[in-house]
Amino acid sequence: MGRLSGKVAIVTGGARGMGETTARLFADEGAKVVIADVLDKEGEAVAASIGENARYIHVDVSQENDWQSAVNLATSLGSYQILVNNAAILYAAAITEATPDDYMRIIRVNQLGPYIGMRESFAAMKAAGGGSIINISSIDGLQSKNGLSAYSSSKWALRGLSKSAAIEFGPHNIRVNTVHPGGVFTAMHSAGDKTEPGDEDNAFYTQHPLPRVGLPIEIAKMSLYLASDDSSYSTGAEFIVDGGWSAGMRLDLLPSS
Ligand SMILES: NC(=O)c1ccc[n+]([C@@H]2O[C@H](COP(=O)([O-])OP(=O)(O)OC[C@H]3O[C@@H](n4cnc5c(N)ncnc54)[C@H](O)[C@@H]3O)[C@@H](O)[C@H]2O)c1
Repeated sequence: MGRLSGKVAIVTGGARGMGETTARLFADEGAKVVIADVLDKEGEAVAASIGENARYIHVDVSQENDWQSAVNLATSLGSYQILVNNAAILYAAAITEATPDDYMRIIRVNQLGPYIGMRESFAAMKAAGGGSIINISSIDGLQSKNGLSAYSSSKWALRGLSKSAAIEFGPHNIRVNTVHPGGVFTAMHSAGDKTEPGDEDNAFYTQHPLPRVGLPIEIAKMSLYLASDDSSYSTGAEFIVDGGWSAGMRLDLLPSS
């Protein structure tokens, strides 16, 4: 018996990166997985390689109709109880250089997408007796950086949205938590065509508590914990998986660096 046996999960942004790793791990743990993404070729290939316990569906998370199709597919496979709102886009520009349209493009995917996803999933999860929603925020939902105003706003908003949803959905045994990854080796980071991080990928992190970039599986395992019944009393909470980034940095000018 896997930790997710008998459950159906939707993983958005599951065609690559952390979403792909999460979908594979969930399937290994016995879940049936719906991979929802806009990268059709990559998503189909991931689903095919997982096998009969995975399906791919084209979903633009900012579109309500696409969500309805995804939830219909998930419920047709069995007991839809897990949603991982993982899809997002990164955009870097100074506040004075970006336009309101640029800003809203990020908000629509990273913030509105998870909102619609939770909204459309609620009835099915309630009918299934409960569920777990995992919203992938970021270290930029706990702090921020120059040039990331839209992205960081969306990730902070997701944290607040998750707390509100946790309060509304809790009486129906639906838990809602956020995961806050630090730097993770994916296409969004610096992976390109590489499969393993090299010194150049770790260089930024030399003064962090764990002096290296994170790996997608290290985030997927946190999502697995939250998806499983092991986390049955956790909701409305923030789960930080950032190699200690948010704790602080080693400074050469102080002892014990
Ligand atoms: N990689 C990092 O360093 C890092 C750090 C903190 C948080 N995160 C967060 O982790 C999550 C996964 O990121 P990743 O690093 O795997 O990125 P990635 O770019 O490799 O994967 C993101 C996936 O989302 C999909 N996607 C984008 N727009 C979509 C839309 N409108 N509808 C459906 N799917 C869409 C993409 O096609 C892609 O498959 C994101 O929420 C990201 O913000 C990443």
